[in-house]
Amino acid sequence: MAEINFEGRVAVVTGAGGGLGRSHALLLASRGARVVVNDLGGSRDGSGAGSEMADQVVQEIADNGGEAIANYASVAEPDAAKSMIDDAIEAFGKVDIIINNAGILRDTSFKNLTPDALDIVLKVHLYGAFYVTMAAWEHLRDNNFGRIVNTTSGSGLYGNFGQANYSAAKAGLVGLTRTLALEGQKYNITANAIAPVAASRLTEDIMPPEMLENLAPEYVSPLVAYLVSDECTDTANVYSLGGGYYSRTALVEGAGVGFDHIPTIEEIAHRWDEIGDLSKGNELRGVAEQTGQIIEVMTRLNA
Ligand code: NAI
Repeated sequence: MAEINFEGRVAVVTGAGGGLGRSHALLLASRGARVVVNDLGGSRDGSGAGSEMADQVVQEIADNGGEAIANYASVAEPDAAKSMIDDAIEAFGKVDIIINNAGILRDTSFKNLTPDALDIVLKVHLYGAFYVTMAAWEHLRDNNFGRIVNTTSGSGLYGNFGQANYSAAKAGLVGLTRTLALEGQKYNITANAIAPVAASRLTEDIMPPEMLENLAPEYVSPLVAYLVSDECTDTANVYSLGGGYYSRTALVEGAGVGFDHIPTIEEIAHRWDEIGDLSKGNELRGVAEQTGQIIEVMTRLNA
């Protein structure tokens, strides 16, 4: 297979001063992408800021013969987020690839969740991806090319104790991804999401060291790089990955049951197992397909 490269492409990677973002930025740059390495440089709970993290990754890229610039803005502020796109255009003339990766944690049980801990987590993960993508969208449309990867999480897809704020933000990113995919389709803009597991400062005290050893962020980046390549036109998908494991994952809707009248509560209870049965599950792409399935079942009943 011919080597996949990013010559002529410009990528913005948020939160690229460490962990997964750094790994994505290094890989893309090593294959010819010019990269905006964004990082606020704060601590893992979102406090503080600094330029060192982004600068270091830019230096690493330069040392490897690649091209990158640093941006220290917070994704959580609309004007600051726009500065990343402005910087890309000023330095490299355009933007093609957006990897929304910046993230923080404010884990706490739902009982102890405060409005502040909810706010900052939604702001960085969910609003951050919105702000950066909103600033880039017009350019991507104008260039008739775009590759967007949002970073969701198993916590967002499946839930996790102590992460109500984080899992809601991450689930929100799946909705954003799927709608961007629909709206981007005719402009050759794809949008996909990843749910990674990797050793980073976010997970260093959550998983045992022997497990972390096999979960280098570098395992995640090749799939991300493929998603943002010219070669990959798949869109609206979510991928679960970590270590050497890679899989697409999806929401499915069962075949459903139909009633030709408004059912009683007992009739619902009577057919509960069928309603819950996903064995003939379908992956639906867009709300139009969901409505289509409802109409199909109703039509069959009334035929
Ligand atoms: P990390 O802490 O090494 O990387 C996150 C980066 O985002 C940091 O360098 C941080 O300075 C930066 N950042 C934080 N707030 C920012 C802001 N407002 N603006 C710009 N940059 C900001 O952690 P990791 O693990 O590499 O996380 C990357 C993404 O992957 C996050 O979105 C995280 O939620 C997600 N993720 C990671 C998992 C894992 O197992 N490591 C699991 C599931 C999701």
